[in-house]
Amino acid sequence: MRNFLEERIKRDGKVINSDVLKVDSFLNQQVDPELMKLIGEEFKTYFEKKDITKVVTIEASGIAPALMTSIELGVPLVIMKKQQSSTLNDNFFQTQVKSFTKNNLYNLVVSKNFISDDDVILIIDDFLAMGEAVLGAIRIINNTKASVAGVGIVIEKSFQPGRKKLEDQGIDIHSVARIKSLNNNKIIFE
Ligand code: G4P
Repeated sequence: MRNFLEERIKRDGKVINSDVLKVDSFLNQQVDPELMKLIGEEFKTYFEKKDITKVVTIEASGIAPALMTSIELGVPLVIMKKQQSSTLNDNFFQTQVKSFTKNNLYNLVVSKNFISDDDVILIIDDFLAMGEAVLGAIRIINNTKASVAGVGIVIEKSFQPGRKKLEDQGIDIHSVARIKSLNNNKIIFE
């Protein structure tokens, strides 16, 4: 099942250096809706027995695969926003996240109106690298009475520490494609 994305990455992905893969022709800038549909179907197959009530993603590139997943599961999608400074507003949950790739700090925020006590949440994101963005989303949810049922990742770079950090918290992760190495300008999958 994961081959459709590996094939696409092999065809259209560009290795920028041994850490970064560019996929802006189908995921990060131009978006291939048929590919997003297949990704949504794969996440549904993997997570459908978990009685998910909500899909949560982080803007911007997580939105397309998360929307397709939420259609498949028949539940709403909630988008956590990135802001420069913290919001002085009691009606938001928020946490600070460090981006290693972009070397900046931002606040991840979501309105309290859209996370309910009884929510069982599936987090979807486009890349898993250092894991900090997803860990921020989990921190927010763990501060509520809602629960995290799992994390769905489109492209995991398994040579970076994100997966380990999530597994250490007992999180169920499913990645559609897992990249073992980008060394020597070559894409090697797990
Ligand atoms: P983390 O979230 O796993 O800790 O990783 P990190 O801070 O390093 O990643 C920051 C941003 O860089 C994220 O996008 C992430 O998706 C993206 N990113 C990380 N590695 C790669 C890569 O190899 N290729 C591409 N194309 N992107 C990568 P973002 O800032 O959330 O951007 P966007 O979702 O608003 O587009």
